[in-house]
Amino acid sequence: MRFQCKSKIMKMTISVIKADLGAIGGHIKPSRALLDAVENHIKSKSKGLAIDWRVTFTGDDIAILLTHNKGIENEKIHRLCWDAFIAGMKVAQEQGLYGAGQDLLKLEFNGTVKGLGPAVAEMEFEERAAEPFLVIAADKTDPGAFNLPLYLSFCDPMYNSGLLISPKIRQGYIFRVIDMSPSDGERWIELKSPEETYDLAVLLRDQERFAISSVVSRAAGEPAVAASTTRLHNIAGKYAGKDDPVMIVRTQQNFPGSGEVLAPFSIGHFVAGFMRGSHYGPLMPVKQNSEISFFDGPPIVSAAAYSVRRGKLTEAADCFAQPYWDNIRARIAGKAEEIRKQGFFGPAMLGMGELEYTKMAPTLKNLEKKFNIKK
Ligand code: F6R
Ligand code: MG
Ligand code: MG
Repeated sequence: MRFQCKSKIMKMTISVIKADLGAIGGHIKPSRALLDAVENHIKSKSKGLAIDWRVTFTGDDIAILLTHNKGIENEKIHRLCWDAFIAGMKVAQEQGLYGAGQDLLKLEFNGTVKGLGPAVAEMEFEERAAEPFLVIAADKTDPGAFNLPLYLSFCDPMYNSGLLISPKIRQGYIFRVIDMSPSDGERWIELKSPEETYDLAVLLRDQERFAISSVVSRAAGEPAVAASTTRLHNIAGKYAGKDDPVMIVRTQQNFPGSGEVLAPFSIGHFVAGFMRGSHYGPLMPVKQNSEISFFDGPPIVSAAAYSVRRGKLTEAADCFAQPYWDNIRARIAGKAEEIRKQGFFGPAMLGMGELEYTKMAPTLKNLEKKFNIKK
């Protein structure tokens, strides 16, 4: 954002921090009182910190969107969200909501919410004269759910005709891919499109292990995407709910058009999650503030489009509320029906690599000991 402050160009930061704090009737959706507690905290404590804010939900997750000038991973901004989540958790406990404080895995705030449980997506940039962006949030799935849609909208001219038409978009993008398997520190690689697109595909196909944390335009040197890559089982050491991801995507000009970012979500591709975070199900695009239902799913994704000027947000345009998506939803419900027919067999349920964090692991371990061997 190019407004001057003491002769210095101020940059704008967008932060989205999201957590499951408990839900009505299982893992369905947050209560009004819980949302109010989070919202009231932000409303009363954000003055002088944030320029603007929104509180929304997707399934059982509450997302706080903030615009500010404090840069990414700012302690005050993270503290604001953390305290709002704690206020929400208290209401969830009072109301007897299920899974109260589910994503607040560690309760010692230490300067950042990263590593404590909530999903974080943040980016800092100089605001364009017209600055459109999307906040895309998913529930009952994990960060790898965004691999296919991001690959298609940034690398595939079948979904992004800008790759054929726009010289700036043709220059490609730099993808930061995180290895989400447990390790001592953060492990990542940077790959460039178009020349390393096939290498990128080799990693992104493994949705459980690899996920994109950021995308940068090569033409503009500007951030296009910031996405959360939290895996809760790496923090908790056991299954602790799914790592429902969120991302910010800037659109138009040097970036894909908003419609090109949304288009791949019409596939309803199969992602990990659904009931007990242990199954594959098709990702269904839903309206903002939608609840969860069938088999604790299906995995859902919402998309809110905003414009922002000097940090002031417009109201959200609810992208998947448009009638086109009704038909898509019906088709994706059919995909969910089909895979659910085979219950836990074969590709309907996650592989043992993922299930080893669940309570199924001890059963298998026990059975291993009882096997007979004849040489
Ligand atoms: C997924 C999720 C649910 C629960 C399921 C069982 O993120 O939260 O699918 O895993 O409802 O919940 P418990 O074991 O708490 O009864
Ligand atoms: Mg939950
Ligand atoms: Mg959730």
